[in-house]
Amino acid sequence: MPDHRDRYYYLAKKERYRSRAAFKLIELQTKFNLLSEGQRILEIGSSPGGWSQIISSITRSKVMSVDLNQMDPLEGVIFVKGKVGNKDLSGKIREEMGKNSIDTFQGILSDAMINTSGNSDIDHASSYLICQEVMKLATEFLCPGGFVVTKQFYGDLTTEFVNKWSGMFQYSKITKVAASRDASKEVYIIFKGYRG
Ligand SMILES: C[S@@+](CC[C@H](N)C(=O)[O-])C[C@H]1O[C@@H](n2cnc3c(N)ncnc32)[C@H](O)[C@@H]1O
Repeated sequence: MPDHRDRYYYLAKKERYRSRAAFKLIELQTKFNLLSEGQRILEIGSSPGGWSQIISSITRSKVMSVDLNQMDPLEGVIFVKGKVGNKDLSGKIREEMGKNSIDTFQGILSDAMINTSGNSDIDHASSYLICQEVMKLATEFLCPGGFVVTKQFYGDLTTEFVNKWSGMFQYSKITKVAASRDASKEVYIIFKGYRG
């Protein structure tokens, strides 16, 4: 059996991150300076929790993390089990916001993706649909000036997606990270300066 584990896998073990994905967020943070101390953050597709560890260690504030799979508890992180795209998710988030005295979020980050199929059209379409739902959550919960990061597998609809939403923000950018696997079409789309 070939060993698919790469240097990020071993680095994650060494640094005690729950996933190699943590390095993707570290890279995005270095490039785009998104997170800062005191921010309230909503995270989508959080399990097993590598990004949650990074977000919580930088913001030292209220982090709400959503995933359709359970996530082991992490200090400072409010976990919501739910699926982006399901009608009840907004209500669940709103309920937890009420309990934790959160009115809006200053940032929404999504690394959500179902298992990739290997078919680039299917993976692009699935990730595009998740991204659309993430942006709908942004219109509901993001405060003016806030940012969104959302993962997409690059394809025909990516530019249209960015064009559709970029008018609501001051800045938008499609970016790749070195920590993504080499052949991956995975990109992250950054929106900053929500016009509200
Ligand atoms: C690549 S993993 C995220 C890894 C995470 N960022 C970390 O650092 O550990 C993608 C996650 O997205 C979740 N996911 C996929 N589709 C989802 C959806 N529609 N709603 C919520 N979570 C979803 C999966 O359950 C999975 O845990």
